[in-house]
Amino acid sequence: MSFPIHRMRRLRKTETLRRMTRETRLSRDDLVLPLFVVEGSGVREPVSSMPGVHRFSVDQVVEETKRVFDRGVPAVILFGIPDAKDAVGSGADAADGIVQRAVSAVKGALPELCVMTDVCLCEYTDHGHCGIVEGEEVRNDASVARLAETALSHARAGADVVAPSDMMDGRVAAIRRILDEHAFEDVPILSYAAKFASAFYGPFRDAAESTPQFGDRRAYQMDPPNRREALREMRLDLEEGADALMVKPALPYLDILADARREFDVPLAAYHVSGEYSMIHAAAERGWIDGERAMHEALIAIKRAGADWILSYAAADLAPSL
Ligand code: PBG
Repeated sequence: MSFPIHRMRRLRKTETLRRMTRETRLSRDDLVLPLFVVEGSGVREPVSSMPGVHRFSVDQVVEETKRVFDRGVPAVILFGIPDAKDAVGSGADAADGIVQRAVSAVKGALPELCVMTDVCLCEYTDHGHCGIVEGEEVRNDASVARLAETALSHARAGADVVAPSDMMDGRVAAIRRILDEHAFEDVPILSYAAKFASAFYGPFRDAAESTPQFGDRRAYQMDPPNRREALREMRLDLEEGADALMVKPALPYLDILADARREFDVPLAAYHVSGEYSMIHAAAERGWIDGERAMHEALIAIKRAGADWILSYAAADLAPSL
Protein backbone atom coordinates (compact mmCIF):
# COMPACT_ATOMS: atom_id res chain seq x y z
CA MET A 1 0.00 0.00 0.00
CA SER A 2 1.54 3.21 -1.11
CA PHE A 3 0.05 6.64 -1.87
CA PRO A 4 -2.03 8.16 -0.29
CA ILE A 5 -0.94 6.35 2.91
CA HIS A 6 2.69 7.19 2.27
CA ARG A 7 3.51 10.78 1.44
CA MET A 8 7.24 11.42 1.23
CA ARG A 9 6.69 15.16 1.34
CA ARG A 10 5.50 15.10 4.97
CA LEU A 11 9.02 15.06 6.34
CA ARG A 12 10.20 17.76 3.94
CA LYS A 13 7.69 20.31 5.00
CA THR A 14 9.71 22.61 7.24
CA GLU A 15 13.35 23.43 7.61
CA THR A 16 13.27 21.99 11.12
CA LEU A 17 11.91 18.66 9.90
CA ARG A 18 14.43 18.60 7.09
CA ARG A 19 17.17 19.34 9.57
CA MET A 20 16.03 16.41 11.74
CA THR A 21 15.68 14.05 8.78
CA ARG A 22 19.04 14.86 7.19
CA GLU A 23 21.15 11.71 6.77
CA THR A 24 24.50 13.26 5.97
CA ARG A 25 26.14 16.35 7.38
CA LEU A 26 29.20 18.09 6.14
CA SER A 27 31.49 19.10 8.97
CA ARG A 28 34.60 21.24 9.16
CA ASP A 29 36.30 18.16 10.53
CA ASP A 30 35.96 16.47 7.12
CA LEU A 31 37.95 19.07 5.25
CA VAL A 32 41.51 19.18 3.96
CA LEU A 33 42.66 22.29 2.09
CA PRO A 34 45.28 21.92 -0.67
CA LEU A 35 47.85 24.76 -0.73
CA PHE A 36 50.53 25.61 -3.31
CA VAL A 37 53.90 26.85 -2.08
CA VAL A 38 56.39 28.77 -4.24
CA GLU A 39 59.83 30.32 -3.67
CA GLY A 40 60.30 33.91 -2.54
CA SER A 41 58.74 35.96 0.22
CA GLY A 42 55.61 38.02 0.47
CA VAL A 43 54.15 36.12 -2.49
CA ARG A 44 50.37 35.57 -2.77
CA GLU A 45 49.71 35.19 -6.46
CA PRO A 46 46.29 34.24 -7.78
CA VAL A 47 46.04 31.11 -9.95
CA SER A 48 44.17 32.33 -13.01
CA SER A 49 42.50 28.99 -13.77
CA MET A 50 41.33 28.55 -10.15
CA PRO A 51 39.37 31.56 -8.84
CA GLY A 52 40.04 32.17 -5.15
CA VAL A 53 43.17 29.97 -5.11
CA HIS A 54 46.67 31.43 -4.64
CA ARG A 55 50.25 30.33 -4.67
CA PHE A 56 52.02 31.37 -1.46
CA SER A 57 55.64 31.79 -0.46
CA VAL A 58 56.61 30.05 2.79
CA ASP A 59 56.04 33.12 4.98
CA GLN A 60 52.62 33.70 3.42
CA VAL A 61 51.56 30.08 3.61
CA VAL A 62 52.12 30.31 7.36
CA GLU A 63 49.74 33.29 7.51
CA GLU A 64 47.24 31.50 5.32
CA THR A 65 47.26 28.33 7.43
CA LYS A 66 46.58 30.45 10.55
CA ARG A 67 43.52 31.93 8.85
CA VAL A 68 42.37 28.51 7.66
CA PHE A 69 42.87 26.86 11.06
CA ASP A 70 40.95 29.74 12.70
CA ARG A 71 38.07 28.95 10.39
CA GLY A 72 38.01 25.41 11.75
CA VAL A 73 39.74 23.47 8.97
CA PRO A 74 41.85 20.80 10.70
CA ALA A 75 44.20 19.87 7.85
CA VAL A 76 46.06 21.09 4.79
CA ILE A 77 47.95 19.26 2.06
CA LEU A 78 50.99 21.05 0.69
CA PHE A 79 52.24 21.07 -2.90
CA GLY A 80 55.68 22.54 -3.60
CA ILE A 81 56.56 24.35 -6.80
CA PRO A 82 60.34 24.83 -6.96
CA ASP A 83 62.12 27.38 -9.15
CA ALA A 84 64.57 24.81 -10.52
CA LYS A 85 63.49 21.52 -12.06
CA ASP A 86 65.62 18.69 -13.46
CA ALA A 87 65.29 15.20 -14.92
CA VAL A 88 65.27 13.35 -11.57
CA GLY A 89 63.29 15.92 -9.57
CA SER A 90 66.18 16.72 -7.20
CA GLY A 91 64.07 19.32 -5.40
CA ALA A 92 61.53 16.74 -4.31
CA ASP A 93 63.61 15.24 -1.50
CA ALA A 94 65.97 18.15 -0.75
CA ALA A 95 66.22 18.74 3.00
CA ASP A 96 65.86 22.48 2.35
CA GLY A 97 63.36 22.05 -0.51
CA ILE A 98 60.30 24.21 -0.86
CA VAL A 99 57.84 21.80 0.74
CA GLN A 100 60.25 20.78 3.48
CA ARG A 101 60.70 24.43 4.50
CA ALA A 102 56.99 25.07 4.31
CA VAL A 103 56.15 22.04 6.47
CA SER A 104 58.58 23.01 9.19
CA ALA A 105 57.47 26.67 9.17
CA VAL A 106 53.78 25.76 9.33
CA LYS A 107 54.23 23.08 12.01
CA GLY A 108 56.39 25.53 14.00
CA ALA A 109 53.63 28.14 13.93
CA LEU A 110 50.65 25.80 14.26
CA PRO A 111 51.60 22.48 15.84
CA GLU A 112 47.95 21.41 16.07
CA LEU A 113 47.22 21.75 12.36
CA CYS A 114 47.49 18.43 10.52
CA VAL A 115 49.99 18.97 7.71
CA MET A 116 49.87 16.44 4.89
CA THR A 117 52.26 16.44 1.96
CA ASP A 118 51.74 15.33 -1.62
CA VAL A 119 54.54 12.90 -2.46
CA CYS A 120 55.24 13.05 -6.19
CA LEU A 121 57.95 14.09 -8.61
CA CYS A 122 55.88 15.88 -11.26
CA GLU A 123 56.25 19.37 -9.76
CA TYR A 124 60.03 18.85 -9.58
CA THR A 125 60.91 17.23 -12.89
CA ASP A 126 61.66 19.26 -16.01
CA HIS A 127 59.68 16.76 -18.13
CA GLY A 128 56.65 16.99 -15.80
CA HIS A 129 56.19 13.26 -15.32
CA CYS A 130 55.62 11.73 -11.89
CA GLY A 131 58.73 9.55 -11.98
CA ILE A 132 62.10 8.84 -13.56
CA VAL A 133 62.00 8.83 -17.34
CA GLU A 134 64.02 6.63 -19.69
CA GLY A 135 63.38 7.48 -23.31
CA GLU A 136 59.66 8.16 -23.31
CA GLU A 137 58.89 5.69 -20.55
CA VAL A 138 58.40 6.34 -16.86
CA ARG A 139 60.44 3.68 -15.06
CA ASN A 140 58.59 2.21 -12.10
CA ASP A 141 61.24 0.93 -9.73
CA ALA A 142 63.69 3.81 -10.16
CA SER A 143 60.79 6.18 -9.48
CA VAL A 144 59.76 4.30 -6.35
CA ALA A 145 63.23 4.76 -4.86
CA ARG A 146 63.04 8.56 -5.42
CA LEU A 147 59.51 8.72 -4.04
CA ALA A 148 60.53 6.89 -0.87
CA GLU A 149 63.35 9.39 -0.31
CA THR A 150 60.87 12.20 -0.91
CA ALA A 151 58.42 10.86 1.68
CA LEU A 152 61.28 10.46 4.17
CA SER A 153 62.35 14.08 3.67
CA HIS A 154 58.76 15.22 4.31
CA ALA A 155 58.61 13.17 7.52
CA ARG A 156 61.94 14.66 8.64
CA ALA A 157 60.53 18.14 8.05
CA GLY A 158 57.61 17.27 10.35
CA ALA A 159 54.78 16.16 8.06
CA ASP A 160 51.90 14.54 9.93
CA VAL A 161 50.77 12.43 6.95
CA VAL A 162 52.50 11.61 3.66
CA ALA A 163 50.32 11.13 0.60
CA PRO A 164 51.90 9.52 -2.48
CA SER A 165 50.08 10.55 -5.67
CA ASP A 166 52.40 9.16 -8.36
CA MET A 167 50.67 5.80 -9.05
CA MET A 168 53.88 3.76 -9.30
CA ASP A 169 53.50 0.13 -8.22
CA GLY A 170 55.00 -0.77 -4.87
CA ARG A 171 55.54 2.77 -3.65
CA VAL A 172 53.44 2.40 -0.51
CA ALA A 173 55.53 -0.58 0.64
CA ALA A 174 58.77 1.27 -0.14
CA ILE A 175 57.63 4.38 1.71
CA ARG A 176 56.49 2.34 4.72
CA ARG A 177 59.85 0.57 4.80
CA ILE A 178 62.01 3.70 4.61
CA LEU A 179 59.89 5.54 7.19
CA ASP A 180 60.11 2.63 9.61
CA GLU A 181 63.87 2.30 9.11
CA HIS A 182 64.26 5.94 10.15
CA ALA A 183 62.02 5.79 13.23
CA PHE A 184 59.01 7.37 11.53
CA GLU A 185 56.88 4.29 12.14
CA ASP A 186 54.13 6.57 13.47
CA VAL A 187 53.76 8.64 10.29
CA PRO A 188 50.67 7.45 8.41
CA ILE A 189 50.43 6.99 4.64
CA LEU A 190 47.40 8.29 2.80
CA SER A 191 47.63 6.58 -0.55
CA TYR A 192 46.18 8.15 -3.67
CA ALA A 193 45.21 4.58 -4.50
CA ALA A 194 42.47 4.97 -7.10
CA LYS A 195 43.78 7.92 -9.06
CA PHE A 196 42.45 8.18 -12.58
CA ALA A 197 44.08 9.72 -15.66
CA SER A 198 41.63 12.61 -15.65
CA ALA A 199 40.95 15.69 -17.72
CA PHE A 200 39.79 17.36 -14.51
CA TYR A 201 43.40 17.99 -13.37
CA GLY A 202 43.88 20.71 -16.00
CA PRO A 203 43.79 23.80 -13.74
CA PHE A 204 46.08 22.14 -11.16
CA ARG A 205 48.76 21.60 -13.77
CA ASP A 206 48.69 25.35 -14.46
CA ALA A 207 49.05 26.07 -10.77
CA ALA A 208 51.77 23.48 -10.21
CA GLU A 209 53.50 23.90 -13.60
CA SER A 210 53.44 20.12 -13.89
CA THR A 211 52.02 19.48 -17.35
CA PRO A 212 53.95 16.60 -18.95
CA GLN A 213 56.26 17.91 -21.67
CA PHE A 214 55.63 14.79 -23.77
CA GLY A 215 52.99 12.07 -23.68
CA ASP A 216 50.49 11.83 -20.86
CA ARG A 217 49.99 9.95 -17.60
CA ARG A 218 47.85 7.13 -18.93
CA ALA A 219 50.56 4.50 -18.55
CA TYR A 220 50.53 4.95 -14.77
CA GLN A 221 47.28 6.61 -13.69
CA MET A 222 44.12 4.53 -13.97
CA ASP A 223 41.91 4.23 -17.02
CA PRO A 224 38.63 6.04 -16.19
CA PRO A 225 36.27 3.21 -17.24
CA ASN A 226 37.70 0.74 -14.71
CA ARG A 227 35.81 -0.02 -11.52
CA ARG A 228 37.00 -3.48 -10.44
CA GLU A 229 40.59 -2.45 -11.05
CA ALA A 230 40.16 0.46 -8.61
CA LEU A 231 39.25 -1.96 -5.84
CA ARG A 232 42.29 -4.02 -6.67
CA GLU A 233 44.54 -0.93 -6.50
CA MET A 234 43.11 -0.07 -3.11
CA ARG A 235 43.40 -3.62 -1.77
CA LEU A 236 47.05 -3.80 -2.84
CA ASP A 237 47.86 -0.48 -1.19
CA LEU A 238 46.31 -1.67 2.06
CA GLU A 239 48.40 -4.84 1.87
CA GLU A 240 51.47 -2.65 1.36
CA GLY A 241 50.68 -0.72 4.52
CA ALA A 242 48.51 2.26 3.56
CA ASP A 243 46.63 3.71 6.54
CA ALA A 244 44.03 5.54 4.48
CA LEU A 245 42.97 5.44 0.83
CA MET A 246 42.03 8.13 -1.65
CA VAL A 247 39.77 8.24 -4.68
CA LYS A 248 40.53 10.98 -7.18
CA PRO A 249 38.80 12.85 -8.83
CA ALA A 250 35.67 12.75 -6.66
CA LEU A 251 32.32 13.47 -8.30
CA PRO A 252 32.85 11.49 -11.51
CA TYR A 253 34.03 8.53 -9.40
CA LEU A 254 31.45 8.33 -6.60
CA ASP A 255 30.72 4.70 -7.55
CA ILE A 256 34.35 3.85 -6.76
CA LEU A 257 34.07 5.67 -3.45
CA ALA A 258 30.86 3.85 -2.54
CA ASP A 259 32.46 0.51 -3.47
CA ALA A 260 35.46 1.32 -1.30
CA ARG A 261 33.20 2.31 1.61
CA ARG A 262 31.52 -1.10 1.50
CA GLU A 263 34.77 -2.99 1.04
CA PHE A 264 37.26 -1.32 3.43
CA ASP A 265 37.27 -0.13 7.03
CA VAL A 266 40.05 2.43 6.74
CA PRO A 267 39.47 6.17 6.44
CA LEU A 268 38.61 7.14 2.88
CA ALA A 269 39.61 10.41 1.30
CA ALA A 270 38.22 11.90 -1.87
CA TYR A 271 39.83 14.71 -3.83
CA HIS A 272 37.42 17.23 -5.35
CA VAL A 273 40.04 18.24 -7.88
CA SER A 274 40.93 21.50 -9.57
CA GLY A 275 38.71 21.02 -12.63
CA GLU A 276 35.70 20.12 -10.50
CA TYR A 277 36.29 23.25 -8.40
CA SER A 278 36.94 25.60 -11.31
CA MET A 279 33.89 24.44 -13.30
CA ILE A 280 31.65 25.50 -10.45
CA HIS A 281 33.37 28.87 -10.20
CA ALA A 282 33.26 29.43 -13.95
CA ALA A 283 29.54 28.72 -14.13
CA ALA A 284 28.87 30.87 -11.06
CA GLU A 285 30.83 33.78 -12.56
CA ARG A 286 28.51 33.65 -15.55
CA GLY A 287 25.53 33.68 -13.25
CA TRP A 288 24.49 30.21 -14.39
CA ILE A 289 24.54 28.56 -10.98
CA ASP A 290 24.71 29.53 -7.32
CA GLY A 291 28.37 28.73 -6.73
CA GLU A 292 28.22 28.41 -2.96
CA ARG A 293 25.25 26.05 -3.01
CA ALA A 294 26.74 23.99 -5.84
CA MET A 295 30.04 23.65 -3.98
CA HIS A 296 28.27 22.54 -0.81
CA GLU A 297 26.13 20.09 -2.78
CA ALA A 298 29.23 18.62 -4.45
CA LEU A 299 30.99 18.07 -1.13
CA ILE A 300 27.93 16.62 0.62
CA ALA A 301 27.53 14.17 -2.27
CA ILE A 302 31.14 13.09 -1.78
CA LYS A 303 30.49 12.60 1.92
CA ARG A 304 27.25 10.70 1.26
CA ALA A 305 29.08 8.32 -1.07
CA GLY A 306 31.42 7.41 1.79
CA ALA A 307 34.31 9.86 2.15
CA ASP A 308 35.70 10.64 5.60
CA TRP A 309 38.17 13.25 4.39
CA ILE A 310 37.40 15.65 1.55
CA LEU A 311 40.22 17.50 -0.14
CA SER A 312 38.71 20.71 -1.41
CA TYR A 313 40.00 24.08 -2.60
CA ALA A 314 36.81 25.53 -1.12
CA ALA A 315 37.49 24.17 2.39
CA ALA A 316 38.27 27.56 3.97
CA ASP A 317 35.39 29.29 2.14
CA LEU A 318 32.81 26.74 3.28
CA ALA A 319 34.06 26.04 6.82
CA PRO A 320 32.46 29.05 8.53
CA SER A 321 29.02 28.06 7.26
CA LEU A 322 29.30 24.48 8.57
C1 PBG B 1 50.34 14.84 -8.88
C2 PBG B 1 49.03 15.43 -8.51
C3 PBG B 1 48.10 15.97 -9.38
C4 PBG B 1 47.03 16.40 -8.62
C5 PBG B 1 47.35 16.14 -7.28
N1 PBG B 1 48.59 15.51 -7.25
C6 PBG B 1 48.15 16.20 -10.84
C7 PBG B 1 48.30 15.13 -11.78
O1 PBG B 1 48.26 13.93 -11.48
O2 PBG B 1 48.48 15.48 -12.95
C8 PBG B 1 45.79 17.03 -9.16
C9 PBG B 1 44.98 17.78 -8.20
C10 PBG B 1 43.94 18.64 -8.82
O3 PBG B 1 43.67 18.61 -10.03
O4 PBG B 1 43.36 19.41 -8.05
N2 PBG B 1 51.35 15.22 -8.05
